[in-house]
Amino acid sequence: MLLSINLNKIALLRNSRGSNYPNLESFALKALDMGAEGITLHPRPDHRHATSNDVINLSKIVKDYGAEFNIEGNPFEEKTGDYLGFTELIKICEPTQATLVPDTLDQITSDHGWTSGSHDQNLIGTIKLLKSYANRVSLFIDPTTEGVDYAHSMGADSIELYTENYAKTFKKIDSSSLIETYKKTIIFAKSLGLRVNAGHDLNLENLPALKKLNLIDEVSIGHAIIVDALNYGFEDTIKRYIQITKG
Ligand code: PXP
Repeated sequence: MLLSINLNKIALLRNSRGSNYPNLESFALKALDMGAEGITLHPRPDHRHATSNDVINLSKIVKDYGAEFNIEGNPFEEKTGDYLGFTELIKICEPTQATLVPDTLDQITSDHGWTSGSHDQNLIGTIKLLKSYANRVSLFIDPTTEGVDYAHSMGADSIELYTENYAKTFKKIDSSSLIETYKKTIIFAKSLGLRVNAGHDLNLENLPALKKLNLIDEVSIGHAIIVDALNYGFEDTIKRYIQITKG
């Protein structure tokens, strides 16, 4: 299981003061030096955390390091103000992975996966285009076989399972039945040749059970890592996550 560290929350802290402190690049390099395989940024059109410049700068640094760079966002968001537009960023950065998320402008964070709608033909065309610039195009979906079917029919290489519900219900109910549902969904996705990622609200407590499945290719984690870093320090936190993902 590869670990991609989402650094949006470090950008959020930096933006609150207006100077380059904390410095995104140094935390990206620290995470990679500690053994994380990749870095994720999720720029939004209002640039409230990672900016278009962050994405361009970090993509170079992470690529030069020989690690994976993942850019998340709504592929239909076009240039507005200083935001360069999702497709343009993928063209400039040529990242390892483009993760497409059906975010609306007013969403605090990603809160649902793709489903079929009037955007389908547009999405098929966009995925085709992005595949010429990114090594992989992944679709953020709810963890259902319908979601997997949809991603496959759109031509994605990969899926990212939206794990908020898993994280919320973990420990509150017998998580073995939930894990079993994930297992079925993942096995179905793999039977269609899709790579399987997971992300949202994963943390030190709920990650081990997903790792145990031995089926998930990559997890993308941001919020909990920054919260844990307040308690344990950044490097120790990355070490703790890596112990799970590589364990
Ligand atoms: N995947 C997607 C599509 C996201 O939007 C986010 C949050 O930016 C994550 C994964 C990571 O979630 P978290 O910050 O809760 O770890």
